[in-house]
Amino acid sequence: MKFLKLFALLFVFQVQAQQGGMWIPSLLDGMNAKEMQALGMKMSIKDIYDVNSSSLKDAVPHFNGGCTSEVISPKGLLLTNHHCGYGQIQAHSSVENDYLADGFWAYKMEDELPNENLEVTFIVKIEDVTKQILEGVAVLPNESDKQAKIQQNISALSNSFPKEKYQENKIRTFFEGNQYMLFVTETYSDVRLVGAPPTSIGKFGSDTDNWVWPRHTGDFSLFRIYADKNNQPAKYSKDNVPYTPKHFLPISLDGVAEDDFTLVFGYPGKTSEYLPAVAIEQIVNELNPTKIEIRDRVLKVTDGFMRKDKAIKIQYAAKYASTANYYKKWIGESQGLQKSNAAGVKKAQEKVFQEKLIKAGKETEYGSLLADFDTNYKAIAPYAIARDYFSEIVLRNVELLKTTYKFVQLEQIYKNKGEQSFTDRKNNLASGLGEFYKDFNKKVDEKIFEQVIEMYAKQSPQQFLPVSLKNANATQLTADVYGKSKLTTFEGVKEILSGDTKSILKKLNSDPAFKLVKDLSASYFNEVAPKYDELNMKITALQRDYMKAQLELGTNDRIFPDANSTLRVTYGQVKSYAPKDAVLYEPVTYLEGVMEKYIPGDYEFDVPTKLVDLYKAKDYGQYAQNGKMPVNFIGTNHTTGGNSGSPAIDANGNLIGLNFDRVWEGTMSDIYYDPSICRNIMVDARYILFIIDKYAGATNIISELKLVHPKTGKSMKKKDLKKK
Ligand code: ARG
Ligand code: GLU
Repeated sequence: MKFLKLFALLFVFQVQAQQGGMWIPSLLDGMNAKEMQALGMKMSIKDIYDVNSSSLKDAVPHFNGGCTSEVISPKGLLLTNHHCGYGQIQAHSSVENDYLADGFWAYKMEDELPNENLEVTFIVKIEDVTKQILEGVAVLPNESDKQAKIQQNISALSNSFPKEKYQENKIRTFFEGNQYMLFVTETYSDVRLVGAPPTSIGKFGSDTDNWVWPRHTGDFSLFRIYADKNNQPAKYSKDNVPYTPKHFLPISLDGVAEDDFTLVFGYPGKTSEYLPAVAIEQIVNELNPTKIEIRDRVLKVTDGFMRKDKAIKIQYAAKYASTANYYKKWIGESQGLQKSNAAGVKKAQEKVFQEKLIKAGKETEYGSLLADFDTNYKAIAPYAIARDYFSEIVLRNVELLKTTYKFVQLEQIYKNKGEQSFTDRKNNLASGLGEFYKDFNKKVDEKIFEQVIEMYAKQSPQQFLPVSLKNANATQLTADVYGKSKLTTFEGVKEILSGDTKSILKKLNSDPAFKLVKDLSASYFNEVAPKYDELNMKITALQRDYMKAQLELGTNDRIFPDANSTLRVTYGQVKSYAPKDAVLYEPVTYLEGVMEKYIPGDYEFDVPTKLVDLYKAKDYGQYAQNGKMPVNFIGTNHTTGGNSGSPAIDANGNLIGLNFDRVWEGTMSDIYYDPSICRNIMVDARYILFIIDKYAGATNIISELKLVHPKTGKSMKKKDLKKK
């Protein structure tokens, strides 16, 4: 017996190295199943994905195309992150009812709030359709004919593949064009807001704690799916009824401990796990530093203003958070790639690859791949950097330039499509831009402009700069643009847009902001974009062949397709990690840690009085563990953007947590997953229940849920898992 246990332990230990990967749920049999069992999974693969009977996948819809969500009650109750429902919570908020500041709870179903433009999409079925999509493609002589044929096959099969009237067929490519999968989906568009904690809980720690462990955020919100009387998708109607799911997740009250099995199910957006070393070096040495420095300047200026002026803080809070999110991620990513020597590891793999293909006699086919990568990545570098400058500065971070770009497009529309299209777009701009100017502060933007335009002029690849910027003095250009442009106010915009087309175009062309953006756009679209696109197409084709070669040579049986916003399974264990020498991060945080970080009145670290009171009274109900309230935990699940709101599921199929972030040291997992430092961050399900029950008193919500004790034996049986 002892011996067996030891053996099992050794086995588990061996498999632990084998983690990472975002796997297609319909293809888990075999290697994945073995790994998951070795890591402690008790369910069968059919419990996760089954076409003929209900399974976990039926509880995990895509949330508005960007996040993930999960059904947690027989009445279509839906759980996702606070930051995923943020737009909806904000849309329902006003000065009198500030649901962001105070939270929102529907104590009866009638109080749930409908949302425009919110939908969730379930996966009904996944089919491998590679053969059908690639039929007749290989014989075609050139790349563009091949792509056209593929598109033709995709639309033909999407139209003919059997489905119900209220369903859709979507075909997506995997492994860079080497595999195609068809998804039959169902999309529900009557999705109502049920509950959200105040931001001081749902976004506790804000940007300072973002991407950071130890973490203490209650990043969740609740929605409900409504359907028509036949339980089918329907537009919002008073007469719609709560959706009855094929499956919903029971919630475990037994929590997690180090080494527990975890599975995260969701819709990861985009990864690049198969880049050659040369591409990684380019990201670390050139692309990330450029974007980081631009955003560093933007954030410093914005922060300076936000700290001094309350109105500016409100105007810029959301913009600041979104700019800071990837700024911080890129810094962690670059450091992680360097620390884990990702490029060196890839180089070693490339050497093995080259040897293997020679042995397999495939040198003529694939022998020049790596050299071609080298040539093309080196060639694309200046174009890629120039592209980042243009998109970060003109299209994203300087608001005047971003808005002015819309007027440059307006002129293009006149030239390419004529008067009518021009008028339509002009009216659109005139009515739409009011919202933008409400949150626009000229002083802030001017300072940002001065800081980044100097970088653009001095540090971006000089060969692509228009003369107007090349010879410019940043201070003077700033004074000129912000002193004279009409586009810095909504009134000015309305003035420019009044009159006939000719006079509008004339006014625009004498505006200094317009002239600058027009120049920058012209040089970008003439000098940079065409060459970038040409080289990028070559690189894409190389990546496809490189992937094909790796699949054929079987260099590695853990090859998984890069994330593409389709449903994936990733699995691992609850695990501590060592971010640096002599430091060990434990895997679970507690409410004690919230109180340690608590700064009354601070916009990031304040907490509601009620939470402090509950803490002092240790009033945790059935949700505590050994008298303490768990808040967040980490695991080795391989996740990325899009996995926000994903359920963390235990060995038996119960909900134990809600994914919302990754640790900073491991954000390079989008490019290179290293199990020693890559961790995803989840809210403990019990913290969510505690906030709903004890903090908000929404016992109506608790009574809908199925709470279980899989570990302590007070338990449910496995067949209870499948609740129709
Ligand atoms: N880093 C997480 C993600 O990439 C959370 C972002 C929202 N939270 C924040 N403090 N900005 O989406
Ligand atoms: N916060 C991310 C999201 O919104 C998930 C974190 C990550 O990138 O891993 O999807």
